[in-house]
Amino acid sequence: MVTLNINGREMQVDADPATPILWALRDNLNMTGTKFGCGAALCGACTVHLNGDAIRSCITPISAAAGQKITTIEAMEADPVGKAVQDAWVRHDVPQCGYCQSGQVMSATALLRTNKKPTDADIDGAMSGNICRCGTYQRIRAAIKDAATTLA
Ligand code: FES
Ligand code: FES
Repeated sequence: MVTLNINGREMQVDADPATPILWALRDNLNMTGTKFGCGAALCGACTVHLNGDAIRSCITPISAAAGQKITTIEAMEADPVGKAVQDAWVRHDVPQCGYCQSGQVMSATALLRTNKKPTDADIDGAMSGNICRCGTYQRIRAAIKDAATTLA
């Protein structure tokens, strides 16, 4: 049994300590907002925050998260920065199929927490690990800038 702090709550997970956070979330805790894409840290669909930093939950074992704070897409509506990002996503009609978007929102939120006025280069650097097969990159960039404006 591993105890994890997820979205401010202590949760018990009955899984091997080597289990990736992604599968503990999805299979053990039925929190399916975090998506499985590649399983190899290549696409960003599984992005969550560990102590506020964007990480790839598909390659991070739950043993590495014990005693730390995991935050998922399910908590973004109650997070001021996460909410600003989601509202901007809606205004810009960002998602197409939607599959990558949970990870995109998590990476964008982590960026705006530490950089209130990101340049195009900052956005490209922070978001380069999040692949969108539908090619929503232009709208993502515009929505991040819009969210930054609303947070200023
Ligand atoms: S599923 Fe984790 S980076 Fe692709
Ligand atoms: S919206 Fe379809 S993969 Fe990004």
